[in-house]
Amino acid sequence: MHLHYADPMGEFSLRTEVAQYLRAARAVRCEPEQVLIMSGAQQALDIAVRSLVDPGDAVWVEDPGYLGARFALRAAGANLIAVPVDQDGMMVAAGTQKHANARAAYVTPSHQFPTGAVMSMRRRLELLSWAEEHDAWIIEDDYDSEFRYVGRPLASLQGIDASSRVIYIGTLSKMLFPGIRLGYAVVPANLVEAFKGAKITMDRQPPTLQQAMVADFMRLGFLTSHIRRMRNQYREARDVVVEAVTESMGDLIDIEIPECGIQLAVHFRSDVSDVDISRGALRDGVSVAPISRFYLNSPARQGLLLGYSGFDARRLRIAAHRLAAVVRSMS
Ligand SMILES: Cc1ncc(COP(=O)(O)O)c(C=O)c1O
Repeated sequence: MHLHYADPMGEFSLRTEVAQYLRAARAVRCEPEQVLIMSGAQQALDIAVRSLVDPGDAVWVEDPGYLGARFALRAAGANLIAVPVDQDGMMVAAGTQKHANARAAYVTPSHQFPTGAVMSMRRRLELLSWAEEHDAWIIEDDYDSEFRYVGRPLASLQGIDASSRVIYIGTLSKMLFPGIRLGYAVVPANLVEAFKGAKITMDRQPPTLQQAMVADFMRLGFLTSHIRRMRNQYREARDVVVEAVTESMGDLIDIEIPECGIQLAVHFRSDVSDVDISRGALRDGVSVAPISRFYLNSPARQGLLLGYSGFDARRLRIAAHRLAAVVRSMS
């Protein structure tokens, strides 16, 4: 049954489940006919960029921001316009000042990568009205909003977009695991054919057997109970890491306690190199991402992203103390 060539947009059963989930959990306005199953958010980003951006087109990106999006944009020959980010997310007015006629904007409004900022409603509305006025596209990457520990998440940008300018992208990498390589794009009806064409050109179709399994998993309610269970585990893991890094190097860093997601950002108080520190930590078996790498033009803050999913409390505490020893020796 699942051995043949099939719909390039993905199995209808999975697209139906995804549409239903996104309507309920993220207030995305969609029908299964607008959902394309992708090989992770990365393929969705790449296909969005191939479909919407011509070489030389200006595209706003968050600064600091996600490298995977920048890679796809650079590969398409886009002219990256670095738009700074503050506690309310992308600073839309700065984007307008730098390049009002950009073709598109790439944003992570639910949980800005890597700062963790949640885009305020004012900024969301500003971004949407910019897109409408300038006939621009918004690529909304909603990669990890399921794991929110405080309050309810803000609805997606797509859900408040009255003029069909938003391409909504999500993934099962955080909800389930990255090796599953399943993500999705929800596209305005007039873009469906273009996205479908790009998908056929790239890899014909997503693997059918895997999609059928995930569709059943969702239909039987396992995904929502899994998310609920993991949210509690990740909250505990976050608290363990916050406590361990505060205790072992609280005098050297500023900690931003995340209200959602599976990673924590810390910034150094003194003038140290986060790249050197991450290399030192790796030699001691601790893998952390230097935050300065995610900056494009804005002055880079030195800090680290600490991922806390997939480890038990004991290993997280050991890692935090090893990392603190490296930071202390280099500070
Ligand atoms: C901002 C952002 N977008 C998307 C993804 C997920 O990509 P994928 O679904 O390709 O694993 C990640 C993963 O780390 C991410 O940080």
